[in-house]
Amino acid sequence: MTEPEKIIWNTFYLPITYSGELIVYIEKLAHQSNGFRRSCFTFTNARSAFFAFLKAVLPQADEKVLLPAYIGWSSREGSGVFDPIAELGLSYAFYKVDRRLHIDLDHLEQLFQTHKVKVLVLIHYFGYVDPNYVKAIKLARSYGALVLEDEAHAMLTDLVGGASGRLGDACIFSLHKMLPLKEGGMLVVNSGQESLLNSELWAEIHLPSPWEYDIKEISHRRCQNAELLSQLLEPLRDEVEPLWDKPQAGEVPQTYPVLIRNVSRDQLYFAMNQAGFGVVSLYHTMIEQITLEEFPVSHQLARHILNLPVHQDVESDALKVMVNQLAECIKFLSATTNSKIAGGV
Ligand SMILES: Cc1ncc(COP(=O)(O)O)c(C=O)c1O
Repeated sequence: MTEPEKIIWNTFYLPITYSGELIVYIEKLAHQSNGFRRSCFTFTNARSAFFAFLKAVLPQADEKVLLPAYIGWSSREGSGVFDPIAELGLSYAFYKVDRRLHIDLDHLEQLFQTHKVKVLVLIHYFGYVDPNYVKAIKLARSYGALVLEDEAHAMLTDLVGGASGRLGDACIFSLHKMLPLKEGGMLVVNSGQESLLNSELWAEIHLPSPWEYDIKEISHRRCQNAELLSQLLEPLRDEVEPLWDKPQAGEVPQTYPVLIRNVSRDQLYFAMNQAGFGVVSLYHTMIEQITLEEFPVSHQLARHILNLPVHQDVESDALKVMVNQLAECIKFLSATTNSKIAGGV
């Protein structure tokens, strides 16, 4: 609100104009239409929301999109992150991640120094927030780049925890990864970035809103399950190493990532699924653009990672049975020589 140019004070010490009108410093209701507004657009999935964002900001041939060097691919799903880049024929570069899947800030800075960057993509893997989140955004800002936060796994970290999604220009959600829906993606453009909004590009579809679910309770259950898993896995530390600590304040996990140290992750994955426990590996195979020669750490992670379920339908008793099964499967695989892998993590 702008300071009124000329005011006088009446006998009750209320500020009024010369014409006698009361000056309102605080309105009864908020009315700034774009204040704190996050404009949401619905899509069938996160990748189409990402595609729409990239098309809206449309980097030129000499402008790069920077992506983390940990992006997976599968024959069934393709690559949710890289396919939009390839389809639009955009110019890209990958920044390194370390063995804990954290951003290598020095490498990221090198890329900013040596390339013209239009968009920095940050991925909040499995709902967790990178320790270098704030620094990475500051870096992007200092080079005038836009920031897209990929919250395909972190919608609840954003909406309930408030720990991500606010510092970048826009973010994408994957509703079907966090809620019992067959499809659903969302592009959220943060307040102050309305210039990105070109409505012709948004193909809105009808989707249930996230708040048609009790997202607070869902988040609570996911966090509780992750906490319990971290305790239950303690005795298996020599074989199963949590990638990170249990969720920190504001983080809501999509899954609980661990590294399988000594037996074949692939064989363990199949054994666990055969036993009825829905574990996944995000990601088991890197896209071919992330080469083993250039990004050995990413490939090492991809060989060992296993994501354990913590979703809202999982009961604590089932987690106990799952961890027992994990121990049994590892014991069995350890006893069979060909399942051992050289150079554990
Ligand atoms: C980090 C990340 N971002 C985006 C996507 C794309 O999500 P969706 O399947 O909703 O397109 C995926 C999954 O494929 C993902 O793992």
